[in-house]
Amino acid sequence: MVKEVRTSIAQQVTVWCLSVCFHSLLTYGYHITLDIFKWSLNLLLVTFPSKIIAMSDEIFTDRHVRLTAHDVAQLEKQNSRLVDGFKAEMLERNAQKNWDLFYKRNETRFFKDRHWTTREFAELIGHTDERRTLLEIGCGVGNLVYPLVEEGMNFYFYACDFSPRAVTLFKEHPSYDPDRMCAFQTDVTKEELTDHIKANSVDVVTLVFVLSAIHPEKFETVLRNVKNVLKPGGIVLLRDYGLNDMAQIRFKPGHKIAENLYMRQDGTR
Ligand SMILES: C[S@@+](CC[C@H](N)C(=O)[O-])C[C@H]1O[C@@H](n2cnc3c(N)ncnc32)[C@H](O)[C@@H]1O
Repeated sequence: MVKEVRTSIAQQVTVWCLSVCFHSLLTYGYHITLDIFKWSLNLLLVTFPSKIIAMSDEIFTDRHVRLTAHDVAQLEKQNSRLVDGFKAEMLERNAQKNWDLFYKRNETRFFKDRHWTTREFAELIGHTDERRTLLEIGCGVGNLVYPLVEEGMNFYFYACDFSPRAVTLFKEHPSYDPDRMCAFQTDVTKEELTDHIKANSVDVVTLVFVLSAIHPEKFETVLRNVKNVLKPGGIVLLRDYGLNDMAQIRFKPGHKIAENLYMRQDGTR
């Protein structure tokens, strides 16, 4: 599911690509598509002075998966009642509040521990005894970090989330160890990660089911924010929903905000 992409493109091409990307982002606005997201990521791959692990083309070939007539009808039905502009604006404005309420309701019970990360992201394992630094963005209550601690991964962990309740729950975990981890509250679409973490100091950044919770119009800001804390040679690990996967097809009318952007019943996206 992942492939390693090494920085190898000439600087001039990078600058040209970046300017085209900016233009596209501005033009498409709210209707930015997953294609543009993929393109932006690939642009970042060649722009960062780093090695980035990104989703391979395979994951994007979902669009070529033959949808059944029922799937197509379901997707079309979603357009019969879109989330109106006012509500979409409120969802954006209340994104933090809605996630915080989510953690008030569910506490640590909702997400399962991510025990697959070292299997799917072999890069987490590392090749030296030297302690590396990992930043988990949108850490929730620690379902990615604590399994890595259990597995004995030699990282100093930074973990951030914009939900204050999630950060509190993260810190209440029995394995929370302030000597080797730091959890803090921040909105990565608005605040600088460098307010909490030294620039160019992080070896691995993880974003697991986080970009799907963020409006695509803000991806560029988020990825720039990530870039600022990433070491040269650092890596970014992503996992998220796929285009036309079951989670997308199952949404009923009244949940679609824009192309490939949906709200759940509780207002989270
Ligand atoms: C689907 S959960 C995933 C949690 C965790 N990564 C995991 O794999 O279990 C998405 C998380 O992203 C956080 N999040 C969403 N938007 C964010 C933002 N702009 N800044 C920081 N965290 C954000 C939410 O509060 C939530 O905890």
